[in-house]
Amino acid sequence: MLALRPHAPDRLNTRPELFETKTPMPAEGEALIRIRATALNRADLLQIRGLYPPPPGESPIPGLECAGEIEALGQGSDGFEVGQRVMALLAGGGHAQKVVAPVGQVMPIPGGLSFEEAAALPEAALTAWTNLVREGELAGGETALVVAAASGVGTFAVQLARELGARVIVAGRDRERLERLKALGADACVVLGEDFVHEVRAIGSGRGVDLIMDLAGGADLGQRMGALKHGGRCVLVGVLAGMQTDVDLADMLRRRLRLIGSVLRARSRLEKAELVADFSAFAAHRLEDRRLKPVIDRILPFEEIADAYRQLREGGVWGKIVLRVA
Ligand SMILES: NC(=O)c1ccc[n+]([C@@H]2O[C@H](COP(=O)([O-])OP(=O)(O)OC[C@H]3O[C@@H](n4cnc5c(N)ncnc54)[C@H](OP(=O)(O)O)[C@@H]3O)[C@@H](O)[C@H]2O)c1
Repeated sequence: MLALRPHAPDRLNTRPELFETKTPMPAEGEALIRIRATALNRADLLQIRGLYPPPPGESPIPGLECAGEIEALGQGSDGFEVGQRVMALLAGGGHAQKVVAPVGQVMPIPGGLSFEEAAALPEAALTAWTNLVREGELAGGETALVVAAASGVGTFAVQLARELGARVIVAGRDRERLERLKALGADACVVLGEDFVHEVRAIGSGRGVDLIMDLAGGADLGQRMGALKHGGRCVLVGVLAGMQTDVDLADMLRRRLRLIGSVLRARSRLEKAELVADFSAFAAHRLEDRRLKPVIDRILPFEEIADAYRQLREGGVWGKIVLRVA
């Protein structure tokens, strides 16, 4: 099968390229998926440069999500059948024509979703679910602030927060991109900048927000926590703006704020299976009737994967870049 060549230590920063490799065999509790579409994530950009190795025992080939048909099942892979249309959350291996996935991370494709639409979902949707629901404990009637919301993860998190019954404020660098999020359920948008906390608080009549899901991190993260209500939670999911910040610890103590770091890929297969099951129970019918939908910027042929990586690196993407695998 064709796959994206994994990083090798002496090939730092070289152009991503496809190579011929052996088709993996499904072990107990795994499914072999014939991939019809896959999607790109920020983590792939790091992995291809040797900066984000896969968890031990997982495929060294990049690619965190896919959609396709089940070609074979290992022992004890109950609940699925050969030929079934599925999408999967992967710890790696998705940038290939075939991949094995633990069945706990495989989901039937809901309703009339195409392979391309389904491939755009698992990583963004499960990241949003994990951090809004499991880590952030977002409840109906609360207010969530999503920072760097015009991203692949953010565009799904906004829809999910709305479906959870929350009020959603979106934040980012570009007002035009934030305004587009209103069609997905955002109630208000605030551009990152000096008056940020003041502007967020003004939206809620000075009360602040219950939860921040922060995909940007960086120097201003500590300051953004000033937008939290008493007892508020801030879940840090990405560090695109940098890895250092100052937090007002006295404010954290006094107002009983919580700052939670969170990563999906490194979680155990068992934990991922629980998250996938909980997410599917909540989202499958909402995906079927399109209350929740993947946001796709562009679809490219798998053979143009090097170009796709370049486009993701350059930024300005609205939602996901998907690859169609022939
Ligand atoms: N912890 C986890 O388990 C997990 C899982 C998946 C993703 N992530 C992380 O989540 C983040 C978003 O991922 P994605 O795939 O959704 O990314 P994406 O679609 O490529 O979008 C990137 C977003 O980051 C924003 N951004 C870039 N540099 C920024 C900066 N210096 N300050 C503020 N915003 C900045 C962009 O803002 P503009 O709209 O202004 O261009 C854009 O909205 C990444 O950091 C990724 O690594 C974490």
